[in-house]
Amino acid sequence: PPPRRPEAALPTIYAITPTYSRPVQKAELTRLANTFRQVSRLHWILVEDAAARSELVSRFVAGAGLPCTHLHVPTPRRYKRPGLPRATEQRNAGLAWLRQRHQHLPPPQPGVLFFADDDNTYSLELFQEMRTTRKVSVWPVGLVGGRRYERPVVENGKVVGWYTGWRADRPFAIDMAGFAVSLQVILSHPKAVFKRRGSQPGMQESDFLKQITTVEELEPKANNCTKVLVWHTRTEKVNLANEPKYHLDTVNIEV
Ligand code: UGA
Ligand code: MN
Repeated sequence: PPPRRPEAALPTIYAITPTYSRPVQKAELTRLANTFRQVSRLHWILVEDAAARSELVSRFVAGAGLPCTHLHVPTPRRYKRPGLPRATEQRNAGLAWLRQRHQHLPPPQPGVLFFADDDNTYSLELFQEMRTTRKVSVWPVGLVGGRRYERPVVENGKVVGWYTGWRADRPFAIDMAGFAVSLQVILSHPKAVFKRRGSQPGMQESDFLKQITTVEELEPKANNCTKVLVWHTRTEKVNLANEPKYHLDTVNIEV
């Protein structure tokens, strides 16, 4: 028999990334791929906010150098408004794919899911931390909520509250980048999804998490939530004031 690779025991990390077309898209995806490529057993689920797969993302995925699943679903136009939650449909498409794929496979299928927005910054250490998620794990997020960081407050190894500067009344006062969920929990709660109905800004995380877990049950990572391993960076909108109206160059370049 072939020698058993030690990697074979590692749970797969599924990263669901919603993404949409804009001048910085390819740069963002390149930055993410450069991180994710260095992580063992990471499966990237890229979900385009579009009516069809774009050529840009399709080409990108083909050359990304890591296992990728490329999905697409458009956000209905009525939901493309400031103040409304983003990427609801895309994250749900990623969840549906994950459930479908594992429905027919025999257990155990060790896996961990997390939501990786395309503009954040992820340290490699974060993946080591989330890999051991039993049900739902949490950790601090840098540069979010109007503070240098937000974090779950931990006492005796349990989450007992939230250090945050924004909407402290949220049941789970945590950014999308601040938690991971085991595949088993995703599969055993087949109806847990992101909802458009009644969802308020900043409540998507709480609305989702309360369907699958409780605060008492959360597993603190990153040294009892005392280390920032992910940053809610946001890319500045590019100034294209000098972009010509019509194509003037002698070549066509994908940016
Ligand atoms: C914050 C949170 O960090 C997000 O997880 C949350 O989805 C978002 O607020 C929200 O308001 O719903 P923020 O940096 O403001 O994040 O949001 P973006 O990074 O602009 O969007 C989150 C993700 O959705 C990104 O991966 C982005 O590419 C994607 N997106 C955004 C779309 O797929 N379509 C859009 O029209 C906008
Ligand atoms: Mn963002």
